[in-house]
Amino acid sequence: MIVGIDIGGSTTDAVVLDNGNVHVVTIEANDPIAAAAGALGKLVQTCGLSLSNVSCVAATGAGSRALDETLFGLPVVKVNEFDAIGIGGTSLAGKRRALVVSLGTGTAIVSVNPERIEHVSGTGLGGGTLRGLSRHMLGVSSLGTLEAMAERGDLSRVDLTVRDIAGGPIGDLPPGTTAANFGKITADATVEDKALAIMNLIVEVVSVLSIAAARACGQEDIVMTGKLTRIFRFMQKMKRLNFGYGRFIIPEHADYATAIGAARAAAQQPRI
Ligand SMILES: Nc1ncnc2c1ncn2[C@@H]1O[C@H](COP(=O)(O)OP(=O)(O)OP(=O)(O)O)[C@@H](O)[C@H]1O
Ligand SMILES: [Mg+2]
Repeated sequence: MIVGIDIGGSTTDAVVLDNGNVHVVTIEANDPIAAAAGALGKLVQTCGLSLSNVSCVAATGAGSRALDETLFGLPVVKVNEFDAIGIGGTSLAGKRRALVVSLGTGTAIVSVNPERIEHVSGTGLGGGTLRGLSRHMLGVSSLGTLEAMAERGDLSRVDLTVRDIAGGPIGDLPPGTTAANFGKITADATVEDKALAIMNLIVEVVSVLSIAAARACGQEDIVMTGKLTRIFRFMQKMKRLNFGYGRFIIPEHADYATAIGAARAAAQQPRI
């Protein structure tokens, strides 16, 4: 069997695919070699695997370039991260073609067609921004705490809308459309309002960018992956996601789709 390891900017995931079942571990470590070794060790221990049953380690993510050709004596196959994102997202969503958005520390956008996987867009707005802004503005480090605060937030004290500046719609823009994120913030805004507005900023910008990329690439399905999908699910629950174009899909196992994609990409390579 093949172990897929994604050494990302925030977390390292190790997965093993076993007859349709997915076993996964996630760790946070700064050193990429320690992260890969630790994730593999934890996966072996928690899943009762034997290293002798592992044929290779498929490594991807920014940290994977630090790895040697072997890890604990196992061959390491390096997989291009955009390929891993594309293969992971489409395989989990059961699609042959789609736009796959990796919502990690940063955001990467990959277009997948049967004949080609292409990195088409991205933004530095992502999970790192969420953590940085919530720490800096609110002194909050945990996503759970941020969500609990955001549940009681009110965007109308923070974000400027089309209604605020025009009194009604502007052309095809409904009055509730955001004209400027944080454009109306005053001293009246509470920490709960700010928590919601930080999340909303990231969800809105990433969604709009994804829709534009999907249009440009002729893709209809937009598959969201990565651990920041958590705030998209949260905003869906809060009924704050309402976009007219594209079909947003958050598949099962979306949090570690890139590690799954690395394992699948390596399995497709003829020499394994
Ligand atoms: N359990 C979690 N642990 C750490 N970050 C989490 C968790 N759940 C959600 N997050 C959010 O998701 C972000 C990390 O997502 P993910 O692990 O998919 O990215 P990554 O692969 O490390 O980064 P990148 O792909 O950009 O290199 C964090 O910045 C944080 O905002
Ligand atoms: Mg990642």
